[in-house]
Amino acid sequence: MGWRASSAPWNRRHDPSRMTQPVFDFVDGEGLDSAAAYRLIVGCVVPRPVAWITTVDAAGRVNAAPFSSYNYVATSPPMLAVNIALRAGDGAVKDSARNILDSREFVVNVATEDTLEAMHASAAEYPPDVGEAEALGLALLPSRHVRPPRLAATPVQMECRLDQVVTLGRGVNTLYIGEVVAFHLSRDVYDGNRVDSARMRPVARLGGPFYAALGEIIHRPMLQRPPGGEGWTGDAPAKKG
Ligand SMILES: Cc1cc2nc3c(=O)[nH]c(=O)nc-3n(C[C@H](O)[C@H](O)[C@H](O)COP(=O)(O)O)c2cc1C
Repeated sequence: MGWRASSAPWNRRHDPSRMTQPVFDFVDGEGLDSAAAYRLIVGCVVPRPVAWITTVDAAGRVNAAPFSSYNYVATSPPMLAVNIALRAGDGAVKDSARNILDSREFVVNVATEDTLEAMHASAAEYPPDVGEAEALGLALLPSRHVRPPRLAATPVQMECRLDQVVTLGRGVNTLYIGEVVAFHLSRDVYDGNRVDSARMRPVARLGGPFYAALGEIIHRPMLQRPPGGEGWTGDAPAKKG
């Protein structure tokens, strides 16, 4: 592009001619205790999407809980991964993890601005014999391929079958990788081809007790062809007002 490193606009934080330079603290990852590591990583890896996961226990009770250590990890076939930690207090396996291990099925419901309060409330520690869906009066819809139902108030729900379980590090965290065997897409957000993120109004988790909604949506043309996305340059959304 012909930028000299010293004058490129994105190097403003590192401009030798500035009177004051940013100061960095250094935190060594080696030997970092779990509490400090948690604080740092959830502050640094932001914003995180929230998977509001429904599972079913052996007695058929519907469990719902949010997880933000989550993302998509594959497209052929589509796969999602979620990290479920052991309970901080007693080191017990969380109900969602136990149900996923027992049934090998779960549904990821996308948490949105409209559903934030109920999603947040579902993170409280309910006894294992209490299903959050019933306790919170969450309306349910049946799934097609898996037993756990979908949360009717969310615009996107993904039925998943467990593919792999990967225990990480010292064993506190386990990654549950699921194949998406069905997508349910509300016509409020899906035009038959693409999901409109702005209409979906997803919420994201930040560090600490904070959430975020989508801010300004920034358009740049795609520089590489997405899989199967011939000709999609990602048209800029029409400006409001
Ligand atoms: C927005 C949000 C995101 C969360 N993300 C995670 C996560 O990624 N992994 C995790 O183990 N717990 C996470 N939690 C905590 C669980 O939701 C909480 O432990 C819940 O009680 C688990 O429910 P369960 O025992 O019914 O599975 C999160 C909580 C909130 C509110």
